[in-house]
Order: sequence, then structure tokens, then C-alpha cells
Amino acid sequence: MLILFAGHETTTNLLGTSIRGLLQHPDQLDRFMADPGLTQSAVEEFLRYDGPTNALVRNVARDHELHGRHLKEGQRVFLMINSANRDPEFFDDPDRFDITRTPNRHMTFGQGIHTCLGSQLAREEGRIAVRAFFERFPKAAFDPDRPPAYIDAMVPRGLVHLHLHLEGRG
Ligand code: HEM
Repeated sequence: MLILFAGHETTTNLLGTSIRGLLQHPDQLDRFMADPGLTQSAVEEFLRYDGPTNALVRNVARDHELHGRHLKEGQRVFLMINSANRDPEFFDDPDRFDITRTPNRHMTFGQGIHTCLGSQLAREEGRIAVRAFFERFPKAAFDPDRPPAYIDAMVPRGLVHLHLHLEGRG
């Protein structure tokens, strides 16, 4: 059950936000399509810039202080992954969408002994599907009358819908 749910919704959401990200940044989309050698770094940037998991939950193992906050044993904390992925102390110009970004040590698959079991499969799905989509629909464009909308939820992040004109406009 865990593998089914952990592996299905996350990758679905990744494909939607990756396509949206490229359409929002036409210069990056042009570079992406012109150079298949950028596929790997591009997928890492899709994962960082608008990743499918907003938060991880951890239980505090023992009382301690972190950045001036007292954390008590047994408390539940939410680690905001997408916020960490825009940390200006860690990433240069973090709000810039850059498919060549290197290094790109994002937190999207978590860290430690419970790091995502399916991270390599998820990356491979992203590499194959996003390129295949734009090869099939090179003129894809946003439908200006129906802007993308995001899921209203604490943990998953993704689009409820992404209306596109697949043959382009005009
Ligand atoms: C872009 C897609 C995906 C994202 C963003 C993602 C993200 C995550 C995150 C943040 C965790 C928790 C890591 C932690 O607690 O430190 C996790 C765990 C997990 N993921 Fe993924 N995941 C993705 C795709 C997949 C796929 C495709 C599969 C399996 C086919 C999968 C299976 C799992 C499993 C089984 C765990 C639990 C690992 C454990 O507790 O030891 N995930 N994932």
C-alpha cells in the first residue's frame, strides 16, 4: 500500500508541475528541448523548484533546542521540504528556475534511513515523460481562461488541473 500511494500521486504531481514550470519559463523549455544532455539536471530542478512533497513529519526523540526553539520529546514536527529547497543560504538565487543548476542538493526525497525508496524510479519517470510530452506537443501552451490550480493540502503539492492548448495558440 505504501509503495502504491508513495509512488503514484508524487510522480503524477511531479509531471504536472514540471510541465508548468517549463511553460512558465520558455527560455528554459527551449534549452531543455535543444539539449537532451540537460535532462538529468532539469529533472533535479523540477524536483527542487516545485516538488511534490511539502512536508515531512518527524517525532522529536529527546528534548533539545534548535535555532532558538525548544523541542520536547514526543512532539511532532513538520519539516517543510519545499521551503528548505528555496533556502537562500544553501541555493544561489533560489527562486530562479534553472535547469542547469549544479550542484542541486534538494531535500525532495528526504534524508537519512527513510530516504525515498523510489527516488530513482521517480527521476526516470520524470526524465522520460516530460521530454516525451514536449516532443509530442511542441506547441503546448497555457489556456489563459483556465489557469492552473494547486491542491489545497499540507503534505502533497501538485496541480488539481492543468488546462493546455496542445496545438499552441495562433
Ligand atoms: C517525485 C516522486 C517522489 C517523491 C517527491 C517522493 C518523496 C518521498 C519522501 C519525501 C519520502 C520520505 C523520506 C523521509 O522520511 O526522509 C519518501 C519515502 C518513500 N517513498 Fe517516495 N517519493 C516519490 C516517489 C516514489 C516512488 C515512485 C516510490 C515507489 C515506487 C516511492 C516509495 C517510497 C517509500 C516506500 C518510502 C518510505 C521509505 C521508508 O520509510 O524507508 N516514492 N518519498
